[in-house]
Amino acid sequence: MSKKYFKRYTVTSALPYANGPLHIGHLAGCYVPADIYVRYLRSQNREVAFICGSDEHGVAITIKATKEGKSPQEVVDHYHGLMKNSFEKFGISFDHYSRTSAPIHHETAQGFFTDLYQKGEFLEQSTEQYYDEEAKQFLADRYIVGTCPKCGNEHAYGDQCEKCGTSLSPTDLIHPKSKLSGGTPILKETKHWFLDLARYQDFLSQWILEEHGEDWKNNVLGQCRSWLEAGDGLQARSMTRDLEWGIPVPLPHATGKVLYVWFDAPIGYISSTKEWAQEKGIAWEPFWKDEGTKLVHFIGKDNIVFHCIIFPAILKAHGGYILPENVPANEFLNLEGEKISTSRNWAVWLHEYLEEFPGKQDELRYVLTANAPETKDNDFTWKDFQSRINSELVAIYGNFVNRALVLNQKFFNGQVPDRGELSPIDEEVLQEVAAFPEKIATSIEKYRFREALSLVMDLARVGNKYLADTEPWKEIKVNEARTQTILNLALNLAANLAIVSEPFLPFTAKKLLDLFGLTTSKWSDAGNLSLLKAHTSLGTLGLLFEKIEDEVVEQQVQKLMTTKTMNEATEKAVPEMKPLITYEDFAKLDMRVVTVLEAETMPKSKKLLKLRVDTGLGHRTVLSGVSEHFEPEFLVGKQVTMLINLAPRSMMGIDSEGMILMAEGNDGKLKLLHPHVPTSPGSVIS
Ligand code: 2FM
Ligand code: ZN
Repeated sequence: MSKKYFKRYTVTSALPYANGPLHIGHLAGCYVPADIYVRYLRSQNREVAFICGSDEHGVAITIKATKEGKSPQEVVDHYHGLMKNSFEKFGISFDHYSRTSAPIHHETAQGFFTDLYQKGEFLEQSTEQYYDEEAKQFLADRYIVGTCPKCGNEHAYGDQCEKCGTSLSPTDLIHPKSKLSGGTPILKETKHWFLDLARYQDFLSQWILEEHGEDWKNNVLGQCRSWLEAGDGLQARSMTRDLEWGIPVPLPHATGKVLYVWFDAPIGYISSTKEWAQEKGIAWEPFWKDEGTKLVHFIGKDNIVFHCIIFPAILKAHGGYILPENVPANEFLNLEGEKISTSRNWAVWLHEYLEEFPGKQDELRYVLTANAPETKDNDFTWKDFQSRINSELVAIYGNFVNRALVLNQKFFNGQVPDRGELSPIDEEVLQEVAAFPEKIATSIEKYRFREALSLVMDLARVGNKYLADTEPWKEIKVNEARTQTILNLALNLAANLAIVSEPFLPFTAKKLLDLFGLTTSKWSDAGNLSLLKAHTSLGTLGLLFEKIEDEVVEQQVQKLMTTKTMNEATEKAVPEMKPLITYEDFAKLDMRVVTVLEAETMPKSKKLLKLRVDTGLGHRTVLSGVSEHFEPEFLVGKQVTMLINLAPRSMMGIDSEGMILMAEGNDGKLKLLHPHVPTSPGSVIS
């Protein structure tokens, strides 16, 4: 485990694709954790660059553009703005948020490619890839669909079957089809530049498994191990693609080829740092090249291999760059038991949350940290959101701070009271509080943000217990001086709470620190119960946190249920057409409008209703499997469609003399087929 002292920090969060808005999974995965870490470092007076930007290349963008009928540039311009705004509103305190379409990034990424090319790091290889002759394009894996060889899903992608989860390559698909033209693609030879990862196998194994085997998270080490210890070792990976959107490969004989998005995106951290340093008029190199800099990448688990294996190999091959000291990747956050999905609209979108819960950014930051998927996938539910806010933020944190402030307002006009002699209970609380900052810091430095946050809440609990034990509301009646001491300590404790909770709840902390006049306070001030000057006038503060009512939660759940119903309707395939028939076949069917005279349930049958209908040719009995869809009374008097020349069938001892026709929609519900105005029973349908 490295115990080195670092004089500077470069902290990055994964560059999000500019192909959709941000959702809670993004925040929980790598933006809130990184922000907590960085805010903590800053409050320790450490030098930090917190770097991010939009990832604007790759097929994720072109697919979105095709879907929306826009140009890729229009798509990235729109989402870059939206994402940047959401980050700002949630207090994600990047020092710089750039974008990979920035000229400085194109230059930097091409510079890396040229450097590696000149060093002979690439293997130039020709491979056969699917090509759409109509669209005149090689097809990225996601642009090819076909039947999954494992489960038979007819809509599997060239890189993965989303039904059974199998990883595929495009040539595994049965009946491949191009998503561009719908035609069958052909295999055509194309040349690409492959990074020969095998050359870095030993170095990576040593660096990750030996040097960081103790301090990297288990989920990260596990994925690295599975790559490094795979039977035939690390394979060469193509660093270029045949695509029109991206950074052109800077070689004369590479027209139509761009850098693979996973080559260019991590270099985006470097170019974003350069842009930031340029704007500030400082040198960027120390942040990437000085051994005294600690580089930490915050990412989600789907990015582990790129940040732990491929990017370090690129940096090593280039030379002169530091490598990450840690890559504290989180697992995934699910939503109400299902995987968050942008395309299925199964998400809590940040821009919508900001509108629906104005001013409640800290509440979401709290819930996402308290329930962070640090070691395993976790689930976000609206019920849990409500209960964490109501029974933790409101009942513990808010309750303590508000009680201390309100009592002080009531008894001492909102002025920080003097402190007299301390009683044993005060001494005890003093000691207890003093131990918190270090405990919280240790958890943060180990990237255990859930643990750190629960310690912050323990500090609030100490505050509540202190008030409950000392009972200033009773004490005031007998001993004003003693009450002053109690409230002085309680207010100081609240100020401590503000300092140590700032990385987690920056908006709340700011309100409190402003109130206490401690805006410049640092981590080192925490642990001290003499932060507030006696006689300082404190302003007033409304409730720090409000309870979330049941209706609010129900509304959100309802919104998701609507999404689910819509998804189910679109996802249920419309049945294939039956084989063609002749007019003579059709003419054999005698379909009529009939009127339902009576309807009753059938004892012992869940599905069947017994109907008596007027066919115009007489009354008949028909058994119809609609009991789960209609109440018998609803059907009486309705005109419906019936096949009257179906040979009678006996069911449960009753002859059914025909069949009522129904329409079954994507939602699986049956609908009656009526004439649009009443008609005489027996009207012929032809
Ligand atoms: O998975 C993603 O959303 C990628 N856009 C992450 C890129 S991270 C880094 F390499 F820039
Ligand atoms: Zn499958």
